[in-house]
Amino acid sequence: KIVPVILAGGSGTRLWPISRDSLPKQFLSLGGTRTFYQQTLLRVPAAGDSVTAPIVVTGEDFRFFARRQAAELGIDATIVLEPARRDSAAAIFTAARIAAERYGEDSLVLALAADHLVPDVELFRDALLAAAEVAAKGYIVTFGIKPTEPRTSYGYIRTGEALGVAGASRVDSFVEKPDAATAERYLAEGYLWNSGNFIFPASLMLAEAERFEPAILEGVDAAIGAAKTDLGFIRLDKSAFLTIPAKSIDYAVLERTKKAAVIEGRFAWSDIGSWDAVRELGPVAEDGNVTHGPVSLLDSRNAFVHSEGPLVTGIGLDDITIVASDDAILVMPSDRSQDVKNLVAGLKAEK
Ligand code: GDD
Ligand code: MG
Repeated sequence: KIVPVILAGGSGTRLWPISRDSLPKQFLSLGGTRTFYQQTLLRVPAAGDSVTAPIVVTGEDFRFFARRQAAELGIDATIVLEPARRDSAAAIFTAARIAAERYGEDSLVLALAADHLVPDVELFRDALLAAAEVAAKGYIVTFGIKPTEPRTSYGYIRTGEALGVAGASRVDSFVEKPDAATAERYLAEGYLWNSGNFIFPASLMLAEAERFEPAILEGVDAAIGAAKTDLGFIRLDKSAFLTIPAKSIDYAVLERTKKAAVIEGRFAWSDIGSWDAVRELGPVAEDGNVTHGPVSLLDSRNAFVHSEGPLVTGIGLDDITIVASDDAILVMPSDRSQDVKNLVAGLKAEK
């Protein structure tokens, strides 16, 4: 059985001031009709003989968004609540353990990020079928994407030996978030991006967790052991969960395991991680400007203005990004969008 797991506990800091600690980007739509979380739920095949109902792992504060947005789609998800953010390794180990207990050690966990855009669901499902076939042979399979630029915010994969399933090969090396020069080299050498979506046998992930990150797994098991269920939510035990080191699955397992494989996804894919990615969604006007919401520009080129509040006006903008919410405005040269997280860290420190 395939057990879909939606990782919906990230903070989405680089999309400040629209994405907030109290309402992070996965629960927002940024102009579309469905939120990113809902689009992710709709991407997995419906529950049936070979697919279980989805498990959502998210922060306690987001429980009602997670429940309501699933219910709007008629989807009854199991919602597991983390008392604090401990990054994706803890969330994935938790899901793997719960899947193993409920559906058996051999069940295949499909762990999906809740904040990606994949416009063609059919192509995604084709890749999923192939990936499930490979995973069942004993691999942690990631969906790889052909890179278009040397982004430093992604994981990079050097493919190895082919695995006899279309588009699948072993992972020769996996490097999370390389520096710019290294990313440039990887791009030239034909590496793939890690899309951050995985499928693996629950038992295999738990074995690798035990081997590489026993402290995280121990905390996860204690937090599940002492979990409480209320209003249908599974609340992980706080004091156990707080002992867990924060680490992403990429550093915790993918960079180290010898059991990783990759399927090259042929579906269009975008991680809506930062404002430059939102800008790429367009639509682009003749002068290169992209505007969302109430915006009026004069003599401006390649500006990106996204307003969810006030009318924003500009004169003579050139490659400038402006994002306005009801209570905060961000202005920056468009190539600085990776630095928003530093700005937000600074704001928090001032509090
Ligand atoms: N439940 C839970 N708890 N989910 C979390 C937590 C947490 O503490 N932290 C992050 N997540 C979720 C996010 O909501 C997102 O869906 C997913 O895990 C990935 O986390 P990000 O923080 O967005 O990771 P990233 O974008 O920096 O890097 C990952 O994705 C890239 C592609 O988008 C890595 O897997 C990279 O290798 C990959 O290229
Ligand atoms: Mg991301």
